Amino acid sequence: MTVKISGTGSALPEKTVTNFDMAKLVDTSDEWIRERTGIAERRISTKDTVSTLAAKACQAALENAGASAEEVELIIVATCSPELLLPCCACQVQSVIGAPHAVAFDINAACSGFLFALNTAYAYMNTGLYKNALIVGSEVLSKLVDWSDRSTCVLFGDGAGAAYIQTVKDEEALCENGRHSGIESIVQGSDGSKGMVLSCGERGVSNPFANDSEQPSKYIHMDGQEVYKFATRQVPACISEALNKAGIGVDDVDKFVLHQANVRIIESVAKRLKADISKFPMNLDRVGNMSSATIPVLLDELNRSGQLKRGDRLVLSGFGAGLTYGASVIVW
Ligand code: UT7
Repeated sequence: MTVKISGTGSALPEKTVTNFDMAKLVDTSDEWIRERTGIAERRISTKDTVSTLAAKACQAALENAGASAEEVELIIVATCSPELLLPCCACQVQSVIGAPHAVAFDINAACSGFLFALNTAYAYMNTGLYKNALIVGSEVLSKLVDWSDRSTCVLFGDGAGAAYIQTVKDEEALCENGRHSGIESIVQGSDGSKGMVLSCGERGVSNPFANDSEQPSKYIHMDGQEVYKFATRQVPACISEALNKAGIGVDDVDKFVLHQANVRIIESVAKRLKADISKFPMNLDRVGNMSSATIPVLLDELNRSGQLKRGDRLVLSGFGAGLTYGASVIVW
């Protein structure tokens, strides 16, 4: 038995905000943002929420897989920007798409969230507990951003991506090139001791019995250079570990689908791995950093534009707040 991705979907808000629009809000320029990040524009929600985007992405993924919501057994939404604390986004999605038989819950591993959701679903499915799952990364980061802080507000965008994964027999997973569709290796890690280099507060302790306590900032705060150093060190290290675990080398990989935070980070990872940069598809110029949604949205773009063939070997890798990081080797 193996677990393969049978369909993908994504949903982006309609409104495009360019770097020129950003320069009207804060002291920045198209040139600075492009040179330092690679971002030219991002999508910003004017009405969509994390759950409405997630539900649209799930419906598209089910359609792409030729599956119905009725048969879905597990829904995991990765998000760090839900519109409600209760109920969780995955239960909202379950209700909207009509998946009454699914178990639904959220996880928060920030930008590594989609990867952690994939790995969690994979672990459940490997035990035989569930035969399929919808896994989703969905974010409306625009409501967590301080729109007067130029060092963060230019980086992020809103959107959602989803994948429908299924358990299939080995013979059904056999591809023309002799590889088997499925997950070949997983590496994931966390370093909570460095958590405050990328943080965003919610409500602090507040009740009739508490002394007045300082309330945390409700906006994203980031030490960009620390995150940059962490990403350029940890991402190539965990990709190398995942490749070792799968018993393969960099040259055996067809595409590296990385978290889209900064083109310079992706270029640095490619250089450290001694991998050809043309194997690193990117869309951050058009959508910015959408945290947990970046990997599934890019995966969906590749899938729908015919850039993925069954049997292609992909490395998915993410990093972000927590700090968290991970890499998975999969055969499409
Ligand atoms: O999903 C994970 C989330 N985060 C990341 O992956 C972020 C990782 N880090 C980065 O991508 C980069 O560190 C940034 C893009 C955030 C910043 O780039 P940098 O090259 O590290 O710039 P910096 O923070 O060193 O700032 C350089 C200068 C500063 O001015 P001074 O002090 O040299 O006068 C900043 O104030 O650029 C200034 N600056 C800006 N200038 C124009 C910061 N933001 C902007 C801006 N426009 N938007």
